[in-house]
Amino acid sequence: MNHLRRWRRRRFGGLCSGNGCRCLICCLLCNRLCCRCCGGGLLGIIVIEDDGAVLGAAVVSLAVERGGVVSGEVDFEDVSFSYKPEEPVLKGINLSAEPGQRIALVGETGAGKSTVIRLLARFFDVTGGAVRIDGHDVRDVTVASLRRQLGVVLQDTFLFTGSIADNIRYGRLDASDEDVEQAARAVGAHEFIMRSPDGYAAEVGENGGNLSVGQRQIISFARALLADPRILILDEATSSVDTATEQMIGQALDRLMMGRTSFVIAHRLSTIVNADKIVVMDKGEIVEMGNHAELLAQHGRYFHLYTMQWAQEELRMAQVG
Ligand SMILES: Nc1ncnc2c1ncn2[C@@H]1O[C@H](COP(=O)(O)OP(=O)(O)OP(=O)(O)O)[C@@H](O)[C@H]1O
Ligand SMILES: [Mg+2]
Repeated sequence: MNHLRRWRRRRFGGLCSGNGCRCLICCLLCNRLCCRCCGGGLLGIIVIEDDGAVLGAAVVSLAVERGGVVSGEVDFEDVSFSYKPEEPVLKGINLSAEPGQRIALVGETGAGKSTVIRLLARFFDVTGGAVRIDGHDVRDVTVASLRRQLGVVLQDTFLFTGSIADNIRYGRLDASDEDVEQAARAVGAHEFIMRSPDGYAAEVGENGGNLSVGQRQIISFARALLADPRILILDEATSSVDTATEQMIGQALDRLMMGRTSFVIAHRLSTIVNADKIVVMDKGEIVEMGNHAELLAQHGRYFHLYTMQWAQEELRMAQVG
């Protein structure tokens, strides 16, 4: 029975990239033409044993059709995960994001926020349930095609030795100088870059060279913007920056998230408050979920986190501002 289920999942879920067409024969015989009726296409061929078990699947490419992009719908369905077999880290995670929605993950340290985004980027595989993008299980698609749709900006922004332009261009290696500048302008980096006599050619040291923490962060946003991913994964930095930089980061972040499904491990109040969905995690589980107003009204976990965070932020801004 399990085999049959697996067989069905692979066969029907994995082959056709469209939503409407679920016919294996149709996919195999008519190839793309037939599947065009549902906007999909033949993605790969699988090998099935007599008893229905999957022997090997030609791994498929996410969004091979539709001009190579996904719409950005994300689903975590009853996801569980453990780094070590005897220690469950995530339990029964059900979470969905519509294309373009902003999801803020909040919770105490060790709650499992980073683990959630690691599963989405497939740095690890789930131990139970499934993570799907546009209906495709991320385990059924090639890692390369998955990563093309994802922009990942982590807290310790890694700028490598090279020019500022090289660091931004890392988002899309064939980008022209104009594309690089356009991305930098869009996130508000152009002005501070041009303050240096070498401009975009200025060298960046391994640890960020002459750039402030905030500026490094903004350059990493320009890099992500240039890559133009449908889904953005962001671990917000917690470092103290002055009020002006704080505002600049906020605007750059808005520009970066615009029109993309975003999963943000949020530390800044404005990111949390403006999210479409705030997911409150505790000990590997989602304990509350909703928008800011809904969660405040519940007077529960989020209410307390928010009050605490708000007080901390007031204090921080008073210190750096
Ligand atoms: N690579 C790993 N190997 C083993 N256990 C891990 C690993 N990474 C995280 N964990 C454990 O998984 C749990 C969840 O960790 P996770 O990093 O997802 O938490 P978090 O909510 O992101 O915390 P923080 O706010 O401190 O970043 C923690 O108990 C942590 O110790
Ligand atoms: Mg974390």
